[in-house]
Amino acid sequence: MPSSWNNRRTFLGAMSTTFLGTLLQQTWPGTSSKSELDTPLPGEMQKGKDYLFEPGLTYFLTAALGPCSRTVVEEISKAMYTMESNPSAKLYGTGEFASLAEKTRESAATLLGCKKDEMVITRSTTDGMNALTQGIRFQPGDRVITTDQEHGGGLLCWKYAERYLGVKLDIIEIPPGENDSTAIIGRIESALTNQTRVISVSHILSSTGLRMPVEIIAEIARSYDILCIVDGAQAVGNIEVNVKAMACHAYATSGHKWLMGSKGTGLLYISDEVNDIIRPMQYEDNRNFYNESIGVGNLPGAIGLGKAIEIALSTGIANIEKHNMELRNRIYNGLLKIDKIKMMSAAPGKLASPLITFQLPDEIDSQEFRMKLAEKYKMMVKSVPQRWMNGIRLSPHIFNTEKEVDKLLEVLRTELN
Ligand SMILES: Cc1ncc(COP(=O)(O)O)c(C=O)c1O
Repeated sequence: MPSSWNNRRTFLGAMSTTFLGTLLQQTWPGTSSKSELDTPLPGEMQKGKDYLFEPGLTYFLTAALGPCSRTVVEEISKAMYTMESNPSAKLYGTGEFASLAEKTRESAATLLGCKKDEMVITRSTTDGMNALTQGIRFQPGDRVITTDQEHGGGLLCWKYAERYLGVKLDIIEIPPGENDSTAIIGRIESALTNQTRVISVSHILSSTGLRMPVEIIAEIARSYDILCIVDGAQAVGNIEVNVKAMACHAYATSGHKWLMGSKGTGLLYISDEVNDIIRPMQYEDNRNFYNESIGVGNLPGAIGLGKAIEIALSTGIANIEKHNMELRNRIYNGLLKIDKIKMMSAAPGKLASPLITFQLPDEIDSQEFRMKLAEKYKMMVKSVPQRWMNGIRLSPHIFNTEKEVDKLLEVLRTELN
C-alpha cells in the first residue's frame, strides 16, 4: 500500500469526525430528535419504537429483508442530504464520504474476522456470488459441486458458468426435512472428481434454516486443492461468522437481511490466499468502494450499512444469536403441537438456526396462507418456493419478542386446527 494512502486516510479520518459531529447537531426531515439519537446502542436494538414498522405489524421476515432501524435510516438520510448539496465535491472532491465507505469495509472485516483488504462492499449476496464466478478463469470441463437447496442468488452464477463457460455442475440432493450433516458431507465426497474446481454451499439453507457443516466442507475442499465458496446470506448479522475459522476461500452475504443495513448492499470476502485465482473484473483496480474498475456506487447505502454493522457489533453477535435462537426454539416447540403441519427444520441443537420452516398440508396453498396472515393479522411470514415445498418460513430477529411468538402460534393454531 503506498505510504501516501496512509497519510491520506489519517487526514480524511480526522476530517470526517468533525464533519459528522456537525451533522449530528442537525435535524433531518422525517427523522427523530437528537435525544433519540443518543439512545445507547445495545438497548436500541431491542425496542420496537426504534424501527419504522407500521402500527400493529408483526414481522417474521428478516430472512427476506431486514428492517433498517431509525438510526440507520437517519444515517442514510444525512449522507444523502449532504452528498446532494454538492455531489461531485462530496464524492470525489475531498473524498470525505469515500473515507466513510472505507470505514464500513473496516467494520465489515472486524465483523467477519478478516483483513480490510480482503473485504468488498457489494450490492447483494447475488452480486458477490456473480463476481466470484466471473473472476475464476474456468476451463471447459471444470466441475462445480453445489446443492439443490441453494437460493437462486447463489445458484445462477454456476448455471451461467455451465451455460457459457463449459463448466459441469454436480448438484447434490438435500431432501428438505432430512437435516443430516453426515449425509451431506458423504454426498459431497462422492461427487468429487479430478476436475472439481469449486464446492459452493450456503452457510444456512434458505429453505429450512439448516446450518451446513461449512467448516468440514472447507477442510475437504482444501485437502483436494479445491475452492470453497460460501453463500452467507442467511448467516451474517444472525449468527457468529468467522471466515478465517471457517477456512473458506470466499464468502458472500447481504447487508439488507440480518444486518438490517441499507437495501442494495452486500459484503464479499475473498481470501488473499486466492488473489491470483479469483480476480473479478470489478476489483481489478483495487477493492475500495470507489475504484476505477467498478465506478460510482451507492455511497449513502454503504454508509448506512456501516452504521448497521456498528450497531450489530456493539450489541454483540453472540447476544443476537442467543436471542434469535431462543425465539426460534419457542416457535419450534409451539409448532410441534399443531397436528396439521410437518416440521422441516432441525430440532433445537447445533444444526438449527433462527430460520424455521414447516410444511403445510397439500390442501392449503402456502402463498395464499401467507397472504391471509398478512391481510387478516398483519403478520409477515414467507411462503417457501414450491420447488422446495408447500411451506412457511419464519425468521425471528432481535426486535421480535416472546409475546409476538406466542401471538404467531395462536394465529397458526386458529387457522390450522
Ligand atoms: C441463501 C441465499 N442466498 C442468496 C440470497 C439472495 O440475496 P440477495 O438478494 O442479497 O442477493 C438469499 C435471499 O433470500 C438467500 O437466502
